[in-house]
Amino acid sequence: MQLSDLDDVVEIENESFSDSWTKNMYESCLKDKNCHYFVGEEDEILGVFGIMTVLDEAEIHTISVKKNHRNKKIATSFMKYIVDYCLKEHIEKIFLEVRESNYPAINLYKKFKFQKIGRIEGYYEKPREDALRMMLDMNDIKENIITLAIETSCDETSVAIVKNGRDVLSNIISSQIDVHKRYGGVVPEVASRLHLEAMNSILKSALDEANLKLDDIDVIAVTKGPGLIGALLVGISCAKALSFSMGKHLVGVNHMQGHICANYISHKELEPPFISLVVSGGHTYLINVLDYQNYEIIGSTRDDACGESYDKVARALGLEYPGGPIIDRLAKEGNKDAIEFPRVMLEKDSYDFSFSGLKTAVLNYLNNKKQKNEPIIKEDVAASFQEAVMDVLVEKSFKLLKEKNQNKFVLSGGVAANSRLKERVLEKAKENNIQVYFPEKILCTDNAAMIATAGYYDYINGKRDNLDLKVYPNLEL
Ligand code: KG4
Ligand code: ZN
Repeated sequence: MQLSDLDDVVEIENESFSDSWTKNMYESCLKDKNCHYFVGEEDEILGVFGIMTVLDEAEIHTISVKKNHRNKKIATSFMKYIVDYCLKEHIEKIFLEVRESNYPAINLYKKFKFQKIGRIEGYYEKPREDALRMMLDMNDIKENIITLAIETSCDETSVAIVKNGRDVLSNIISSQIDVHKRYGGVVPEVASRLHLEAMNSILKSALDEANLKLDDIDVIAVTKGPGLIGALLVGISCAKALSFSMGKHLVGVNHMQGHICANYISHKELEPPFISLVVSGGHTYLINVLDYQNYEIIGSTRDDACGESYDKVARALGLEYPGGPIIDRLAKEGNKDAIEFPRVMLEKDSYDFSFSGLKTAVLNYLNNKKQKNEPIIKEDVAASFQEAVMDVLVEKSFKLLKEKNQNKFVLSGGVAANSRLKERVLEKAKENNIQVYFPEKILCTDNAAMIATAGYYDYINGKRDNLDLKVYPNLEL
């Protein structure tokens, strides 16, 4: 609200209340840094609302709508704005007074989970009436929140329903891998079409399994990136349609944040801060997770992602897509010391990764063997390649844990399902007294439950998107 709005605001307030504020009162309020006043406008000012905040509490001063714009749910949208604003500002409680006979207002506040906490006798004049004092405990709106999430960033179509961020009611995952296998990798256009074909029935299955209706959902979360542009668009269009038609909050989620959040589902007691290693098909990150919203990226890959190097090496060995799980299996039967592949550590202080040199070394080894007509023992290649990857991941991660003096280490992403990674990390963690967290296998690879969890934490921290939400194929954390 600006000084130039004051004449309109005073007029609206006079229409609405018999004991409304004067222009002077508003002027001094605008100068007060604890007063936060807003106007809702389209072509003209439709209404005004204002709160006063002191430390972690807020008091609603006014919500009024211009006479000829009433009954259009404008007051509801003002209330939504106030609640979101208070979430963002980490307000714990919101208070208000309302005339005891003003049932429409009282019902609106009740809808937003305000509770009556008392009565103030003779609070209002003209006509004299008692006030009801009401309060919203912000914890009440963070509880029993049902999030429906949609994930379509790559080759899994998934819809999940999660309660309060950690309690999975359903997590339906339909993998397209069998189709992409024929081409040796994900074909983007095919992925988009398959997402589109699968979406409606997966959505229905997720609701049925959770035994809920669309109306029971509070928040729609959707992966906005990184990922394949066409594939992301299918998910985001579906999420917007649901949000628009059902009047639900919409939150666009970073897929990589989702991978980290998978651990909050598997480990109910886990809280930030911690050090996180995210190793997926498209990304490799070492991150200092400061809280649910703040991520400090310490290292990332300079070329191939960790999972990508698994897939490329698998392809060179004539194995199917995705190669990670197959190499994991083969390596168990091979000798990890059979072939000396490089461990690329980069500069002394760097936490970045580079896997393309290792991949090239494997390819050169295979070509060399083929040229000499010598036999290739796939199990040994798999085990030796995998050990080279693990040496780098483990060394860099534990160096960072030590540097940051952090004793919680959280892994995620498709490669976190790797059995050798688990063995190596657990062994090193025992020596260093580090607590290690892996998601369950099904939550390592792409799924919508992890997107719901990330979306929930975004939501309770006041993050909202609208129908302008776009896809971000190259989104960073
Ligand atoms: O996280 P994710 O499902 O998709 C992306 O967001 O990229 O990760 C898929 C990647 C693939 O590269 C796959 O080969 C790899 O994870 N992967 C594995 C294992 N399971 C999946 N890599 C190594 N060992 C595994 N057991
Ligand atoms: Zn992923």
